[in-house]
Amino acid sequence: MAKGAINPRSAGRKVERPANAFKTLLRILKYMLPYKIQLIFVVAAVFGAAISRVAVTYLLKPAVNIYIVPMIGRQDPDLSGFSRLVLIMTLIAGIGVLCTYLFNRLMLNVVTGTMRQVRVDMFTHMQRLPIKFFDTHTHGSVMSLYTNDVDTLREMISMSLPHMLLSLTTVVSIFIMMIVLSPLLTVLVIVVLMLMLITIRCVASKSSKYFSKQQQALSVVNGYIEEMAEGTKVVKVFCREEKVKQKFRECNETLFHQASNANTFANILMPIIGNLSYLLFAATSMLGGYLAVIGRVDLGTIAAFLQYTRNFSMPVSQISMQLNAILSALAGAERIFKFLDEPVESDYGYVGLVNAEISKDGTIAEVPYRTGKWAWKHPHHDKTLSYTPLKGDVVFEHVVFGYEPEKIVLNDISLEAKAGQKIAFVGSTGAGKTTITNLINRFYDLRHGKIRYDGININKIKKDDLRRSLSMVLQDTHLFTGTVMENIRYGKLDATDEEVYHAAKLANADSFISSLPQGYDTVLTADGVNLSQGQRQLIAIARAAIANPPVLILDEATSSIDTRTEALIEQGMNTLMKGRTVFVIAHRLSTVRNADKIVVLEHGKIIETGTHDELIKLKKRYYQLYTGLFELS
Ligand SMILES: Nc1ncnc2c1ncn2[C@@H]1O[C@H](COP(=O)(O)OP(=O)(O)OP(=O)(O)O)[C@@H](O)[C@H]1O
Ligand SMILES: [Mg+2]
Repeated sequence: MAKGAINPRSAGRKVERPANAFKTLLRILKYMLPYKIQLIFVVAAVFGAAISRVAVTYLLKPAVNIYIVPMIGRQDPDLSGFSRLVLIMTLIAGIGVLCTYLFNRLMLNVVTGTMRQVRVDMFTHMQRLPIKFFDTHTHGSVMSLYTNDVDTLREMISMSLPHMLLSLTTVVSIFIMMIVLSPLLTVLVIVVLMLMLITIRCVASKSSKYFSKQQQALSVVNGYIEEMAEGTKVVKVFCREEKVKQKFRECNETLFHQASNANTFANILMPIIGNLSYLLFAATSMLGGYLAVIGRVDLGTIAAFLQYTRNFSMPVSQISMQLNAILSALAGAERIFKFLDEPVESDYGYVGLVNAEISKDGTIAEVPYRTGKWAWKHPHHDKTLSYTPLKGDVVFEHVVFGYEPEKIVLNDISLEAKAGQKIAFVGSTGAGKTTITNLINRFYDLRHGKIRYDGININKIKKDDLRRSLSMVLQDTHLFTGTVMENIRYGKLDATDEEVYHAAKLANADSFISSLPQGYDTVLTADGVNLSQGQRQLIAIARAAIANPPVLILDEATSSIDTRTEALIEQGMNTLMKGRTVFVIAHRLSTVRNADKIVVLEHGKIIETGTHDELIKLKKRYYQLYTGLFELS
């Protein structure tokens, strides 16, 4: 048996089992269907490789019986026949090598194409998933699908599957040939092989506990490194470097001990397996020699049989390894398919947003080109169409909502924002301000009540069109890797450079962008870490401004910007807000003073509404918040 046929390191590891291996395998095969012609060649090449191996070995029999044995002791042996046989053997072996190369090469083509499709499907599907999915799944778990699970699947398709087929074909054909050569010797091989496998299984199951301990220790170390890398700043602020190093040394020491235990065991396993296979070889030789002496078998048969014995145990032990690899890849594939089966964001909206031309008498006509004016196109049951001009009127009617069934976050919210009004939401942390804005753009569905946009229930509006008519600066700013220019243009992909500069000026971002090393062409690294928090917000405001929508939602858009810059932006913002409905959320109450309506939220309920002056006169919560009598909690 070849050394390393069983990898003791993997022999002890617990294998993840798929819930429904057959169904998953079928689904993977469906992905490989476009490559069916290549796959047919792969299967043929695998059979070719297996059969050529078996055939070369079988030819040892005539080589020994017909040529070698009769020629022993001859003075001038005729080697022509023997040379011909050797040539044939070489030729068959060559075909075997060619077949092996061919199926590996073809499989590489199949696997790259299949994986490309899997990744495309996963990413496309991810774009269509509702926000709710990301609330309940960590980024880490989604990323692990793309990295670990896709990778094991790739390995399975390219390596384990064809090699499993090769091993199975080899084992079956060798087994048949062994029976043909000598049934008695075959029984012996099977018995010894069984003993071997049972021993390996026993030792492996013992070592599995050491391996799982090693695995645990490794995950502790990795987790610790990850956490400390993220928390470097906090560690330094509190001068905890020594403490952190100490803790790391402890974890690492445990890993060291567990790893040496596990590997000591693995090192014991290796010679056991090696010696067992020699035992098999020796036992077969002895019995074969005895049978030859008593004249039951010829020498050629024994030569071929011994070679088969050597070739037999390797694929047998490899099958179990390959099976483990396949099973854990199937478990990963199941996770990928579960992800692909996640329900996508549903949209039953049928009211769309169209470019419109509005004549003097108020009639609206749909036009295919950009006019800067928009209208809602509303198809009715009687096949007629009606158009409503896009104004930006938003009305909440008794809205009730909760992220989870058992917890209500917004309770009976009713409010009206007329087109062009500035509505401010204030209230303590967790009061539900961001949630309200999440509902306007239909990230989530309402539990009760209605939201009307220009008089139309937003459930009837196509989500894409609804979101196109709104612009948002989210509470947690997110910038993409790319230049400043590209990041601002994200709000309107066909914006000219001039429009980008104009939007940046409105947001008062122009001056700091110009002072960046490459100005608008400065590349922002992931999430704009090379900018300050406030600078990121300025870019996000410019991005929202460039879209030029009738409704603007600013969730803490200026929370990290100094008051002087904020005052400067406000001038730009006032121009920006003109003629638009704006929802502003701000903890800094000075920024919401000039709102047409201030809505004070507490525990998901509206407790006060009015203008700044009205609410100050009321001398209740807003007054307390404004005058600092009530600390925001
Ligand atoms: N994705 C979510 N899944 C479940 N619950 C959530 C989710 N987002 C927010 N919540 C809960 O909803 C409530 C309201 O949250 P929301 O983000 O609307 O508060 P907020 O008023 O914007 O607060 P802040 O001033 O801190 O931004 C909180 O109790 C919060 O725990
Ligand atoms: Mg919020």
